[in-house]
Amino acid sequence: MDIPFNKPFVSGHEQKYVLDAIAKGDLTGDGQYSNKSIQLLKKITGAKSILLTPSATHGLEMAALALDIEEGDEVIMSSFTFVSCGNAFVLRGAKIIFVDIRPDTMNIDEQLIEAAITERTRVIVVMHYGGIACAMDEIMAVALRRNLYVIEDAAHCIGAYYKEKHLGTIGHFGVISFHSTKNIHCGEGGALLINDDKFVERLEIIREKGTNRQQLLDGKVDKYSWVDIGSSYLMSELNAAYLYGQLQNIDRLTQNRLQIWNRYYFLLKTIDEIEIPVVPVETQHNGHIFYIKIAHRSKLIAFLNSKGIQSVFHYIPLHSSVAGKAYGKFYGEDRFTTKHSERLLRLPLFYGSDGVENICGYIKNYFSEQK
Ligand SMILES: Cc1ncc(COP(=O)(O)O)c(C=O)c1O
Repeated sequence: MDIPFNKPFVSGHEQKYVLDAIAKGDLTGDGQYSNKSIQLLKKITGAKSILLTPSATHGLEMAALALDIEEGDEVIMSSFTFVSCGNAFVLRGAKIIFVDIRPDTMNIDEQLIEAAITERTRVIVVMHYGGIACAMDEIMAVALRRNLYVIEDAAHCIGAYYKEKHLGTIGHFGVISFHSTKNIHCGEGGALLINDDKFVERLEIIREKGTNRQQLLDGKVDKYSWVDIGSSYLMSELNAAYLYGQLQNIDRLTQNRLQIWNRYYFLLKTIDEIEIPVVPVETQHNGHIFYIKIAHRSKLIAFLNSKGIQSVFHYIPLHSSVAGKAYGKFYGEDRFTTKHSERLLRLPLFYGSDGVENICGYIKNYFSEQK
């Protein structure tokens, strides 16, 4: 039986909410299902202010606008991350300063951040890979000491925590993705978590095309007009209705993913040729990604493919890409980013998957045939 890499989760409740939203007749953003989804997200994350967005990418762009990032500013991040982390700031004219990762978690090495700070640095962007948290205490301490903002790319992180704080709620801003490759999804979608109250009002304006329409809806003004820069960053009510049907089922979903993740971990930990993920004690992940690190991964990809099993890799380190070279530079030595990203392979992981025993059996066979 063929095993795909991913099958987007379906709770079974999405359709009735989507049909109900259609029946109600108004599908613009900020409707009933947007509000319901936000209430659930607040319960799950503990965040005080949440805006639903068309994607996590849009959330990152909104944060860059709210911080008035401009030509010549510098933004620190790891190179092993998704392009949106870079793009959101390059679009505003910033330069990206890449620092190395920790090989155990594939997250930014918190010990390397301070040396990369200059008088132009404005922001540190941290990406919690696979829902396993970066060392946030250390990162927030550097940011406080050097007067910098922290944005958490928590795209992978719905239902994942660091010292009992939901990821995305620790820095000044956090973004979560609801793209269909993520644990909880609505096809395309995201959320921006605003953890510093002073940005809430401005972000409500930025998302409404630079108008104070929200203040009109809140009864604070009697007409709305163009007051600032902005764009259209609202999630459609159709997507919000689908999302609501997913969020209601987050416990069942996360438990199932963690079971599958733990089974991979147990079955693969004894194979000498493989490195498996490390989960620091202070982090509680959500089973978003199970990866292994191996030499010559393309051979294992081809072998698994021949058995009908799809495995994939990512990310090509940003500093080695065409745009990464044009808009950024690597600070310090690339000890781990390139070497470890070239060895990383993601195995199929989706709700209800029962292929783990087979997959691990094939991987064991593959390595015993190599001996
Ligand atoms: C780490 C990370 N950040 C951001 C994104 C962008 O998410 P979206 O597709 O919701 O814009 C992704 C998408 O895969 C991602 O993996």
